Amino acid sequence: MKKFVKSLLMGALILSLSVSAMAKDKIFVGTNAEFPPFEYLDKGEVTGFDIELVNELGKVMDADVKVLDMSFDGLLPALQMKKVDLVIAGMTATEERKKTVSFTQPYYTASQVIIVKEGNNSIKSFDDLKGKKVAVMLGFTGDTIVSEIEGVSIERFNAAYAGIMALQADKVEAVVLDSEPAKNYVKQNPGLVLAEADAEQEEYAIALRKNDKALLEKVEKALAEIKANGTYDALIKKYFN
Ligand code: ARG
Repeated sequence: MKKFVKSLLMGALILSLSVSAMAKDKIFVGTNAEFPPFEYLDKGEVTGFDIELVNELGKVMDADVKVLDMSFDGLLPALQMKKVDLVIAGMTATEERKKTVSFTQPYYTASQVIIVKEGNNSIKSFDDLKGKKVAVMLGFTGDTIVSEIEGVSIERFNAAYAGIMALQADKVEAVVLDSEPAKNYVKQNPGLVLAEADAEQEEYAIALRKNDKALLEKVEKALAEIKANGTYDALIKKYFN
């Protein structure tokens, strides 16, 4: 009888242990891996600053992070449809987006810049884009900003590299893109330069469903923790030196 009780207890213990192991939260994260150095593909694997950041957050939250790569304009719909729980994609926390989703505290400050061919001195400000053919990426904040300038002939592309190729082929005269990816493309493509023009600053943040308060709180806490313990700074150093 004693033996029976003992094995019963053992069984219960094993069961509860495996239940708690199974209970490790899975967090599905949506991104668009066409935005180096924040997210890009390296030998078929999604990697970059945002991806490492969200993996560190996962460690703090003791959750399994699963990253799903999709088109940028599909990210917020996927969040609403519960295909993902978080979106991290160098996404600017705009007032417009705040109407439908929640954002964490910002984790990076960026701005829109203009990429032109070397020797093109006709573009020194966003206003100079008037009357020019300009590439933007569908649904990016650059799209919104350029759309507000009157008289620009806008060419919309699905990914930044497609805009860069159009510039190289003289199909457009300028590309408007976020600062860090723009620097990245300019570095890798001799003959392209950044025009000396400043734009408003933008803050990147992680997006969540509005009603997902518990997860938002957890992510905020984890973000604060990795900012305090040096993990965040190490990532900044690694990607932006
Ligand atoms: N910051 C810009 C925005 O929020 C562009 C982000 C693009 N990110 C990406 N992973 N493709 O619209």
